[in-house]
Amino acid sequence: MPLLQEGFQIEGFDASEEMLNYCRDACQKRNLSADLTLQTFEEFSYGKSFAAIIVPAGSFQLITDEVAAAAVLKRFYDHLAPEGRLIIDLDPIGGILAPPGPIRSWTTEGGDLLTLTDNRVQTNHLAQTTLSHSRYDLWRNGALIETELELFKLRWWGVHEFRLALRDAGFADVQVSGNYQHGRAPQPEDEIFTFEAKRVTA
Ligand SMILES: C[S@@+](CC[C@H](N)C(=O)[O-])C[C@H]1O[C@@H](n2cnc3c(N)ncnc32)[C@H](O)[C@@H]1O
Repeated sequence: MPLLQEGFQIEGFDASEEMLNYCRDACQKRNLSADLTLQTFEEFSYGKSFAAIIVPAGSFQLITDEVAAAAVLKRFYDHLAPEGRLIIDLDPIGGILAPPGPIRSWTTEGGDLLTLTDNRVQTNHLAQTTLSHSRYDLWRNGALIETELELFKLRWWGVHEFRLALRDAGFADVQVSGNYQHGRAPQPEDEIFTFEAKRVTA
């Protein structure tokens, strides 16, 4: 949203129509417009190239197969103009392996209580993946009305490992920053790492 507000021309995709609709609503409220399409990391395609591709919020870690992740990095590379930049946020290993936080809760517009309980149920140190159960419970006057379970799989990356993956996909000039302080090398206590890499060839 801040990039649109700065006047950059932005296009975006997500695999969920619901998420795209949240984005459309947020744009409309601010009188902004972006070209949004329903596509996946694995198959997205545009008949043009971009000056930058940004994957925020650790979303890249939802690609849990390393071969698939390498193919997606190559697809990003192929969609960048020469000198174009790929910018990807990754959550550090510590956050992914940390014990789950407390139960979160919200009151709905109708006065019901919604709770979210996260539990990590599998950790695969070889594949570098975790599987969590996100359990959503809807309560009315203390009685459980409905439960929904979301299976949530993530992959963690080492900093050096991800640098190498970017280089393998053809990227150069890889820079890593910690906690959104551009140019400041990552530190062990950082909550987010941002990788920036360039396509140098035509
Ligand atoms: C952490 S959320 C980020 C949402 C939003 N891009 C943002 O930055 O606020 C992760 C998003 O990735 C989307 N997603 C999950 N798997 C995907 C895939 N294979 N291809 C494209 N989007 C995917 C989900 O639908 C979800 O909206």
